[in-house]
Amino acid sequence: MEWNAEREREREYEEEGSICNFHASSFIFCFGRCLFFFDYSIADISNILFARCLALALLDHSSNSTQEQEQGANTTLFSPYKIANFNFSHRVVLAPMTRCRALNGIPNAAHAQYYAQRSSPGGFLITEGTTISPTANGFPHVPGIYTEEQVEAWRNVVDAVHAKGSIIFCQLWHVGRASHSVYQPGGAPPISSTTKPLSKRWKILLPDGSYGTYPEPRALTTSEIPEIVQHYRQSAINAIRAGFDGVEIHGAHGYLIDQFLKDGINDRTDEYGGSIENRCRFLVQVVRAVVSGIGAERIGVRISPAIDHNDAMDSDPLGLGLAVIERLNNLQKELGRKLTYLHVTQPRYTAYSKTEYDKKEEEKEAHLMRNLRKAYEGTFMCSGGFTRKLGMEAVAQGDADLVSFGRLFISNPDLVLRFKLNAPLNKYNRKTFYTQDPVIGYTDYPFLSKGNGTTELNARL
Ligand SMILES: Cc1cc2nc3c(=O)[nH]c(=O)nc-3n(C[C@H](O)[C@H](O)[C@H](O)COP(=O)(O)O)c2cc1C
Repeated sequence: MEWNAEREREREYEEEGSICNFHASSFIFCFGRCLFFFDYSIADISNILFARCLALALLDHSSNSTQEQEQGANTTLFSPYKIANFNFSHRVVLAPMTRCRALNGIPNAAHAQYYAQRSSPGGFLITEGTTISPTANGFPHVPGIYTEEQVEAWRNVVDAVHAKGSIIFCQLWHVGRASHSVYQPGGAPPISSTTKPLSKRWKILLPDGSYGTYPEPRALTTSEIPEIVQHYRQSAINAIRAGFDGVEIHGAHGYLIDQFLKDGINDRTDEYGGSIENRCRFLVQVVRAVVSGIGAERIGVRISPAIDHNDAMDSDPLGLGLAVIERLNNLQKELGRKLTYLHVTQPRYTAYSKTEYDKKEEEKEAHLMRNLRKAYEGTFMCSGGFTRKLGMEAVAQGDADLVSFGRLFISNPDLVLRFKLNAPLNKYNRKTFYTQDPVIGYTDYPFLSKGNGTTELNARL
């Protein structure tokens, strides 16, 4: 069955642990499983090696074809792309995805295996949201990048990815009000731009696997904000110390930065609230601080102006997106350097839960995305509901330079190869998106093998 058609039917929304229109779901804790770095049978290893050899052959071919930037109708997901110091051999990016496998906030051998599995020569990976401070967390077993132990642990993950030839950025994350006192130091209320809690429509995933109500946050005072900005900067420095090639600033999906950007949340009366200039201030300060810490050319920024995830509504999504872009463009001009990329989540991603998402919405979305793309003076990455076909169209039409894939990459560690071969895809199991087992639903999705049609596909190449 065509995955696209299947997903259309699902019209179900899930993201980052928050459940909208919550249905009881099972939550499995399987901590006891013994983990080896390569937990495979001999047959698995031979299949993996087979697929890897094929991948190397394919990707070597594409990276040798040209180092020039290909643009236009002939551009595909497999055309190389160059940004400053990075030479990507293709444009299929691993989207940042929270997977809740970092027991006590420390990445482990399973992370190294998971990210290495999704690596390809000249590929680009973005890590799961990684917390920048003890107040930044709102999920069970999310990794951080603010202690020495975390930095050391990430180094093993980065090394495993680099050994496979991929480039990897760390996504810097503060959830703001999308948290709970159980995740906060001293059981304090979560912090935000506001004192308004998330509506009852949203439920928070708690450490015991149950779902709870989001509590009332505490609005940061004006004088507290510079310290949070500093946490982003320090975390970026830590990420580079851990060996990451760069960082992505998570300004999307209703988390802390988005809680400042969106007028549906931000009700402040100081210089961080009210006008669009003021609402953009926190993001701009964060970007500037991170630039001062690690340099512009190692920074991606993610925004989702038109997405209402976590009640993050704005009365003028296009206006907001353009306002952010104008500020990023100005900063780039001032610095005489470009950021690595801007990453924008398509409204379509959250629209699957809405029955009224029709042709008109699609046109509105295309209009929004094209305007943002046109306005941004740099590399533009899209995410949300992309299939192979949609990704191919987006790069061929110039709507995106890079496309990030989330759920398909969860269940297809060799997604790049499968896309290249137009091979069948494994289905993902949403029940294991946020569970803690280091293998089940994490590193055990199968690679292409001789047994499932690769030989035949190989013969067609
Ligand atoms: C399990 C899961 C976890 C996610 N966690 C994050 C995250 O930590 N940071 C983020 O920016 N987006 C997160 N997202 C959104 C993805 O990056 C991506 O934009 C989204 O899945 C849409 O792409 P897709 O349709 O290809 O899955 C998550 C999505 C899923 C499914």
